[in-house]
Amino acid sequence: MNKVLVTGGAGYIGSHVVQQLTSRGEYVVVIDNLSSGYREAVQGAELVVGNVGDTALVASVLQHHGIDAVMHFAAHTVVPESVSDPLKYYGNNTCNTRNLLAACAEAGVSKFIFSSTAAVYGLTAHGVADEDTPTQPANPYGRSKLMSEMMLCDHCATGAMRHVILRYFNVAGCDPKGRIGHSAPSATLLIKAACEHAVGKRESLAIYGTDYNTPDGTGIRDYIHVEDLATAHLRALDHLREGGTSLKLNCGYGHGYSVREVLDSVARVGGHPLNIVELPRREGDLGMLIACSDRLKQVLDWQPQYDDLDFIVRTALLWERKMVSKRVPLSSVA
Ligand code: UD1
Repeated sequence: MNKVLVTGGAGYIGSHVVQQLTSRGEYVVVIDNLSSGYREAVQGAELVVGNVGDTALVASVLQHHGIDAVMHFAAHTVVPESVSDPLKYYGNNTCNTRNLLAACAEAGVSKFIFSSTAAVYGLTAHGVADEDTPTQPANPYGRSKLMSEMMLCDHCATGAMRHVILRYFNVAGCDPKGRIGHSAPSATLLIKAACEHAVGKRESLAIYGTDYNTPDGTGIRDYIHVEDLATAHLRALDHLREGGTSLKLNCGYGHGYSVREVLDSVARVGGHPLNIVELPRREGDLGMLIACSDRLKQVLDWQPQYDDLDFIVRTALLWERKMVSKRVPLSSVA
């Protein structure tokens, strides 16, 4: 039986992918150090608590289970923190990826799916990026991921392995059935932060920058539901198993929403006006970044199911409400 190792499978995105993998009958092993993930988020898979930079641990897991493919999520992902503590990001994201690749090379793992980011693009001419747009990351987080992409490509060029690099745009929302979600305690992502405010965990919500060159002056991003993103990973795995070539693919819907449009949605879905504070631009932020995701649709035959901002927000709110009150029923919003 083909077996998949998922690093960071107890975290936000990794746990949604694990859930989709196990629900279609895949045998999955997770390595996660639980620094920002949760044991309970690992549904239907074996959890090994440890660090992906620990080559001896990874080697023993790869060998013991006869792992055929690796999906690598484990990483730090907070852009402002990467600006204030870059070595933390190069250590965990770049150096640990190198160690993981070395262990995979030793064990003969031939398929690798890598969680990359739209942050590898930086400032683009028109705020839209396809996979051939030049990479010029605006922050250490983006650079730490771009370096990992380069190592992976160089390793695969030896013929040892094939890969799919998935460059995520703005991932949001949670499992529509409310079983798992985004639990990181100090998340900075807009939809997560706004939903925390909507359920009373934050007193206000800041808009960082109202003077961008966009129709309402606030930043525009391409928000993709985590379930659609997870599906892209399963398609990528199938592609590699069918003998497909290495790929780099953007993951987004190809259109965006401004910060104000997102906050309007949170107020509408949550049923309450928000207490909004307008602040200056955040360091390292861009005015607009939207995916051209035609390649993902064409090459992997990926079709989004949840391209609906209010739905994304509804699923994120469902999870926040569950976190503040265990009494809230886990009813499906699908
Ligand atoms: C960035 C990365 C993205 C990465 C993500 C993970 C870039 C271009 N993108 O997304 O690849 O996956 O971080 O951390 O580097 N905002 C507010 N108030 C808030 C929070 C955010 O106004 O409280 C605004 C931001 O200024 C931005 C938008 O909302 O315009 C989205 O921000 P955020 O959710 O933090 O994600 P990005 O910074 O776009």
